[in-house]
Amino acid sequence: MSSFDFVGLQLENRYVRSATATSTCDNDSGIPGQKFYEIYESLARGHVGLLIQEHSFVSLRGHANHKQLGLHTDEMIQYHQKANEIMRAANDKIKICCQLAHAGPNGNTENKLLINEATVADFEEVVQQFKEAALRAKQAGYDCVQIHSGHTYLLSQTISDFYNKRTDEYRASDFKLLRDVLEAVRTVDIPVGVKLQCDDFIEGHSMNAVSACKIISALKFDFIEVTGGGQGNGAKYSTARVGKDKYYYKHVIQELKIHNLLDKQPVIVTGGFENVEDAQQAFNDGVYLVGYSRKFLRNPNFLIDEDVKKCIRCNQCAIAVHKGEYAHCVIDQNKK
Ligand SMILES: Cc1cc2nc3c(=O)[nH]c(=O)nc-3n(C[C@H](O)[C@H](O)[C@H](O)COP(=O)(O)O)c2cc1C
Repeated sequence: MSSFDFVGLQLENRYVRSATATSTCDNDSGIPGQKFYEIYESLARGHVGLLIQEHSFVSLRGHANHKQLGLHTDEMIQYHQKANEIMRAANDKIKICCQLAHAGPNGNTENKLLINEATVADFEEVVQQFKEAALRAKQAGYDCVQIHSGHTYLLSQTISDFYNKRTDEYRASDFKLLRDVLEAVRTVDIPVGVKLQCDDFIEGHSMNAVSACKIISALKFDFIEVTGGGQGNGAKYSTARVGKDKYYYKHVIQELKIHNLLDKQPVIVTGGFENVEDAQQAFNDGVYLVGYSRKFLRNPNFLIDEDVKKCIRCNQCAIAVHKGEYAHCVIDQNKK
């Protein structure tokens, strides 16, 4: 089987398991439970080329939802290392990416970091936290890291004029916080990508494919994963849409193509891909890798087995998480 070069790593194929919170960790400490390791072992067995793990909070203030994975202290390194070892024992070709996140205004804490009230010192602390977490990711043996700047978490709100009303150097049009985080993480010797909000889908506001192109032109990430969608606030679409829509970000990919940005760094697009055949259209458009989230919950083996388990994108997996359960496909559960 041929392999694919990706930021100097050799991938077994061009399919990505996009970050998907498993909700299997201790709520306070962020330490994974046994289910966490079982899920990642089974994903590795399914021969995905690049596995982007799940959002790890870089500080307690950036903790998003319950049972989230933490990488906010050195003590956490051992748990990440163990997961990486388990995955590599199951599949020695797998490449593993650590996703680093700060929930900001969406934090699961009373001390939420609100972007229009944050001080410069608050933002400088965030930059340092991302850098320290990236260093821990390297020590834990990840192949690359991905900065989470999507889904209305802290960084994605700072690049959006809908959320960011600041007029100082942190104003939306200058994307300073994202730039500073990138530069800080860059000092760690590990490839750095971003999951980038490329469309808020909020009418009348300019966080869209065009503004995403400006960010991608200005910042030198090793790879970009295109994402978008909102949590409330009148957003037309959520990140994980219910229903039959496919290839959610085709319009963003077309815009990137117009600006010659598809060749600047490898581009991953995630959202609305149900099977291997669906990915072909994105590959034809010049996308390098295609990501799947809910499909892997439905069937972690869809890349190697006959793909008979269709994900109907009902989002019951996400609802299960909101109920405090681990992320799993409810269709599977109902069949048991
Ligand atoms: C249960 C669940 C958990 C998710 N957790 C994350 C996460 O930790 N980080 C992230 O960037 N996206 C997360 N997402 C979003 C997915 O990565 C993906 O962008 C979205 O579901 C659209 O892709 P899909 O149509 O293949 O499911 C999650 C989605 C679901 C359904």
